[in-house]
Amino acid sequence: MPKNRIIGVFDSGIGGLSVAKAVEAALPQHTVLFRNDAKNVPYGNRPPAEILPLILPIFQSLIDDGCDVIVVACNTVSTTLIGPLRESFGVPFIAMEPMVKPSAQLSTSKVIAICATPTTLASRRYAELKQQFAKDLTVIEPDCSEWSTLIERSQLNHETIAQQLAPALAAGADVIVLGCTHYHWIENEIQDIVAGKAVVLQPEPAVISQLIRVIARLP
Ligand code: DGL
Repeated sequence: MPKNRIIGVFDSGIGGLSVAKAVEAALPQHTVLFRNDAKNVPYGNRPPAEILPLILPIFQSLIDDGCDVIVVACNTVSTTLIGPLRESFGVPFIAMEPMVKPSAQLSTSKVIAICATPTTLASRRYAELKQQFAKDLTVIEPDCSEWSTLIERSQLNHETIAQQLAPALAAGADVIVLGCTHYHWIENEIQDIVAGKAVVLQPEPAVISQLIRVIARLP
């Protein structure tokens, strides 16, 4: 009998909930604990130094509740603070960061669009990913700075999304990356908007594969 494990899933807000649901559906033999920071969401316009003291007690609570592995279902935290998290806590972490490498490989137009929060786009990790995997591509970063706030309030409408993606499509982007878990909730809408022009990538399947590998290695 495979052992029941406790999988922690963290995000600033409702973005991580889509990841928690996907993990639950894929790995029903394990228990998923989802935590967010409803008081301080969104994180995407805050500097990492302001985010760190907010997340440490939440991750501590996941550890206290017995998590064997934690998914950081927040690109903003993963791209800026995964180092301090790994140093502070002794469980394996799975980070979620914009899928620059797969999108660069998939693109035939060599133009990709990365949708992410301002803090993710400003991170050193994201700059490294672009440098390593997308040096020869045009990378467009649509203005999604208000998206997570609007998604939290169910106020992000079709016109706004279409407007903000239009320049990327006009430039020939054929892959759109969802580099913020909040945007997973509008994946279908984005797919409708870009249909026939671009494909949409998000990392839930990759995270689940990685989780399976990490769980298999747990003592
Ligand atoms: N869902 C998070 C991310 O993946 C954070 C969004 C926010 O809090 O602004 O980046």
